[in-house]
Amino acid sequence: MDERDELHKTVLAEEAVSALNIQSEGFYIDATFGRGGHSRTILSKLGVEGHLLALDRDPEAIEAAQQLATQDLRLVVGKTQFGQMENVIEAQRIQGKVNGVLFDLGVSSPQLDDPDRGFSFMRDGPLDMRMDNDNGQSAADWVNTAAQEEIADVLYQFGEERYSRRIARAIVNARKAQKVTRTLQLAEIVKAAHPAWERDKHPATRSFQAIRIHVNDELGELKKALAVAVNNLVIGGRLAVISFHSLEDRMVKQFIADCSRGDNYPRGLPIKAAQLAPTLKKIGKATKPSLREVAENPRARSAVMRVAEKLQSEKVMAI
Ligand SMILES: C[S@@+](CC[C@H](N)C(=O)[O-])C[C@H]1O[C@@H](n2cnc3c(N)ncnc32)[C@H](O)[C@@H]1O
Repeated sequence: MDERDELHKTVLAEEAVSALNIQSEGFYIDATFGRGGHSRTILSKLGVEGHLLALDRDPEAIEAAQQLATQDLRLVVGKTQFGQMENVIEAQRIQGKVNGVLFDLGVSSPQLDDPDRGFSFMRDGPLDMRMDNDNGQSAADWVNTAAQEEIADVLYQFGEERYSRRIARAIVNARKAQKVTRTLQLAEIVKAAHPAWERDKHPATRSFQAIRIHVNDELGELKKALAVAVNNLVIGGRLAVISFHSLEDRMVKQFIADCSRGDNYPRGLPIKAAQLAPTLKKIGKATKPSLREVAENPRARSAVMRVAEKLQSEKVMAI
């Protein structure tokens, strides 16, 4: 582990791994390796015949995972967006054989804290915000080219920013004079346009979060991945998802509710009402970090974990 690896404090570490109900010879997927906090705990509970597939889209997270894999042959590493994890599952020949999948969504502390990754409105850096900074459109590319209305919609939808229109107008005006390429440059534009600063919250917090969610298509990824994860679980296998944003949590809650009612089937299938059997069983209530965990790790404060167990092997659809 290098110094940076210790900078990510794993959220709900014990709770998430215990939710997976680890079978010592089972096959598990950590869809968001980060710096491997959850992966290490899963490995500590697996026997010699157990396996863990660790995924991440971030090159630095993958480097950390590969380093761990050199010390532990039970760990297999795949660099992918989890929305496309079906390819890795197929390559590993584990379709329908997975005992548990964990998602710990959002960004890691090493990503947030490194100014060069462009997520921070506190420290200056290139306006990037891509978790996979080798692929896709950076925040700067998007902010400098998107229509004013699209920017406003993103800020409103993903950041719940009340002043989205005003801020979008300010961004578009500013970019006419000079391209927006730096994080602090954007933070200053938002700050100047924001008429109602919240206590203890930088006025650019919501806008930065919204742009990050958009640039990484975080909700689209989750939507695709939930169905793939469940379709590849063995009966009795577990799904555990830790969300940090109300829109993510709502999607997870809805997905589990639909699958637990048995009405998440591919549309158009000739299914009779009697065949509508649930695919998932909800396990427990939503779990939040303890006050103690939040005191030790303020970034855990908005975390919510939901857990479900696979009941039968009918295919579910992305919601
Ligand atoms: C909160 S961190 C995970 C921390 C990890 N559980 C730990 O304890 O170290 C989230 C990680 O998920 C990755 N990630 C987020 N969305 C992703 C996606 N759609 N596909 C693949 N990786 C993703 C990020 O790059 C980041 O490394």
